[in-house]
Amino acid sequence: MNISVSISNLGLMPIYGPFIGGTFRDSAPNGTFPAIDPATGEHLADVARCGAAEVDEAVRAARAAFPAWKATSVEVRSALLLKLADAIERDLERLTIIDTLDVGRARSEVRGDHLKAISQFRYFAGAILTYEDYGRPIPNGYFVARREPIGVCGQIIPWNVPAIMAAFKLAPALAAGNTVVLKPDENASLSTMELARHIAEIFPPGVVNIVPGYGHEAGAALTAHPGVSKLSFTGSGEIGRIISHAGADRLVPVSLELGGKGANIVFPDIEDVDAVVDNALVASMYCNGQSCLAGSRLFLHDSLYDDFMHCLSVAAKRLTIGAPMNETTRIGCLVSEKQGQRVLGYIDAGKKEGAGLVVGGGRKSVAGHEFGYFIEPTVFEVRNEMRIAQEEIFGPVLSVVRWKDYETMIQEANGTVYGLSAGVYTSSIATAMDAANRLEAGSIWINQFSNLATGVPFGGVKESGHGSEHCRETLNLYTHVKAVTFQGRVAAPWYAV
Ligand code: NAI
Ligand code: MG
Repeated sequence: MNISVSISNLGLMPIYGPFIGGTFRDSAPNGTFPAIDPATGEHLADVARCGAAEVDEAVRAARAAFPAWKATSVEVRSALLLKLADAIERDLERLTIIDTLDVGRARSEVRGDHLKAISQFRYFAGAILTYEDYGRPIPNGYFVARREPIGVCGQIIPWNVPAIMAAFKLAPALAAGNTVVLKPDENASLSTMELARHIAEIFPPGVVNIVPGYGHEAGAALTAHPGVSKLSFTGSGEIGRIISHAGADRLVPVSLELGGKGANIVFPDIEDVDAVVDNALVASMYCNGQSCLAGSRLFLHDSLYDDFMHCLSVAAKRLTIGAPMNETTRIGCLVSEKQGQRVLGYIDAGKKEGAGLVVGGGRKSVAGHEFGYFIEPTVFEVRNEMRIAQEEIFGPVLSVVRWKDYETMIQEANGTVYGLSAGVYTSSIATAMDAANRLEAGSIWINQFSNLATGVPFGGVKESGHGSEHCRETLNLYTHVKAVTFQGRVAAPWYAV
């Protein structure tokens, strides 16, 4: 199969200026940065390095568009979101290739990102139609609690699943009647900039504005801008704290989706070892492990430990590492040299800490893609207090902990700063329910992992952040309540005795 694509046939713009007020600006005074293919080093396009001036313009455009957008009916907003979903669907293969080249992940996975994005836009197109205000009669009248859009939302997203991230942010904010200024990640801007081309055809000018650039420039300017009324961020805990402070300074609401160190727990009564092995591998290696919800810690019961580890290492070695564009590739390359070095640094730290390397651990060279950081699926036997069992690595590295005592295991599973995801494998409903009750995580999956069916709430507890995305409740993050209390005619003040 020919996996080489001619970049010139992809219809990329040579330079992506900021998308403000419905059009791409020609230039950015601060210049541009290159979008490169992390697998080959090939130059894909140039992207504007936005600064405070472009962010200010974008926020002004979003503010100008807000009153009219807020006044549109939910039917109109719903219809436009559906149109956007259809446009992405028609452009699915091109967007998939663009993102595959831009982020280095396997093409089949990246196609799934865009399918997920389509389902997000459709979900919120539907959800907003039934997002009804509530109210009830009260003495001498009634009240209604109206849900109103907040205003201009400043949204900052990471590089790991850019299409999903853009949809997670845009769909609920727009459905609820807000306008948006969104900053994509400097490692993965292209599919978001291409999304802007579709948005330009569908949404009124200024409803969506995209300001690509670096975090400390465009990102910092966006979080500090007085015209932004709501902040939403997905990324590292370190930057999440900075965004939280920025929100506190201006007293605007902030929602955060940060890192994770998901515990995937195997009980002794599982029926099908191979199926659980497959789940554990997808949980940890999907996205080359560059996923906040990854099940990057595997708690294996002592009674099946040796058999399971044998099957796991055989299966891990079988995962195909290869060219991202190849449809059969399972493990592509990491997003950047920086991320590659970070992951190799953790592998080194694991060895130095005395963790047992079971499989993998090295960088692999892929023909024609020698530039890229392709890291072998790596499995370590660890103690839960080791750094590689505590810190988010964001690479294809699985830390396995042996357990015997249930109470100790639950304590260890909860024994990280994170609380995003967890998995439980057992044949006993009672065991599953008890573990689900006791695990400190926003998502618990029973006999599976990472199943984010559309509408299932997704968000963290502890240092994994706050605010559920991907669900009806997300609309609450993008609205505030206005209580309006009615009385038929003016009478004595209600408090008169
Ligand atoms: P990051 O948190 O620095 O980047 C995420 C976004 O924040 C990007 O758009 C970036 O430009 C922006 N940003 C950076 N500094 C900013 C600032 N001062 N003000 C406003 N925005 C700012 O993540 P990074 O450095 O790319 O990855 C480091 C680690 O973070 C990863 O190895 C992983 O452990 C974690 N991470 C978690 C993600 C998640 O989905 N929860 C996604 C990406 C990274
Ligand atoms: Mg790139």
